[in-house]
Amino acid sequence: MGYNSWYDLECSESMNESTLRQIADAMVDTGLRDLGYNYLNLDDCWAKGRHANGTVFADPAKFPSSTLKPLADYVHSKGLRFGTYTDRGTATCAGRPGASNYEKIDAETYAEWGVDYLKEDSCNAPSDHDTAFQQYGRMRDALNATGRPILFSLCGWSAWYAPVGKSLGNSWRIGPDDTDWSGVLKNIDAMSGLDKFAGPGGWNDPCLLLSRQWTGTSRVSELQTRAQFSMWSVLAAPLLISGSILNMSTDTLTTYSNREVIAVSQDTLGIPGRRLYGSSMADGRSTTNIWGRQLSNGAASLVFLNVGPQPETLTCDHACFASMGFAATDHLKVRDLWSKQQLPDVTASTLTANLPPNGGHLMVSVQKESAQENQLLV
Ligand code: DGJ
Repeated sequence: MGYNSWYDLECSESMNESTLRQIADAMVDTGLRDLGYNYLNLDDCWAKGRHANGTVFADPAKFPSSTLKPLADYVHSKGLRFGTYTDRGTATCAGRPGASNYEKIDAETYAEWGVDYLKEDSCNAPSDHDTAFQQYGRMRDALNATGRPILFSLCGWSAWYAPVGKSLGNSWRIGPDDTDWSGVLKNIDAMSGLDKFAGPGGWNDPCLLLSRQWTGTSRVSELQTRAQFSMWSVLAAPLLISGSILNMSTDTLTTYSNREVIAVSQDTLGIPGRRLYGSSMADGRSTTNIWGRQLSNGAASLVFLNVGPQPETLTCDHACFASMGFAATDHLKVRDLWSKQQLPDVTASTLTANLPPNGGHLMVSVQKESAQENQLLV
């Protein structure tokens, strides 16, 4: 959980050390840090070149020391962890120095600066599996050799990474940039069937959380920001806010601050959610989906989602509940995690949601009544 600068600041004038320090302050002041958003991750456009000895340096116009160390120190002083970005190819997507053949020296530099998280992109690099595997493997080994714990986040934009992801890093992008609502839907679709590859220590990454940028514009509606956040939590996806922390709307802050949804995301069993109803939404085959995630203590969380232009009624039926481990006769307590209300109890054969269009959703947690409570009901 944390912040990523890409969709907020990109390579703009505002992407500089002073803004990032203010963002660190705001992560504390908004309460986001204390909710678990621990990482402040700088994305592309910070690196400028290499010294004669090969060490990478930061753009001095943006980072006055030409290193990321003062920023990392400041971020740490705020009780946060610091992340940065590179690319396995010869240059990053924005044309900055890439790590190809500099893995060892770069990993050592990052460790010296106090980096806690490294995202490695895939621009300007061969796309065949063998080379990708070798390049990511080299950075994995170089990071491990520093002795500093550094979360390694692969950014290879393909579901191909899921089966090998855990052997290479701690998270791996399974699809392209999400950039807008249709991109969010594409990456949700791409997550179908990948749940078996992820779990504690290694996670499928369907890309960044979208909300308002520093400029005030947003790629998605408030309802869609909340729908994406609900889905990412059920998917056990990294929760990296790539919207403005300094210019966040009250609604978005309320969305990202929902402790019950965060608890689903961070459930210690670490079982990622699965699609229980519907099929591909990005290509229009389905306008509705139900996804579910099994949680500790025999509970589960379900997200009912409507991406079509009309209101829809959607039911989780017996088969849908059975795939979350419930028997048709089970009495279930149901809690709406957004209205924060208990809904009427159901038996595990039917739960129906009425959903507004274009991202309308219901997110619930369901749990069996205890045997004792059942006796009392009788
Ligand atoms: C492509 C990645 O997919 C994005 O998340 C972002 O890191 C950009 N590159 C930066 O250039």
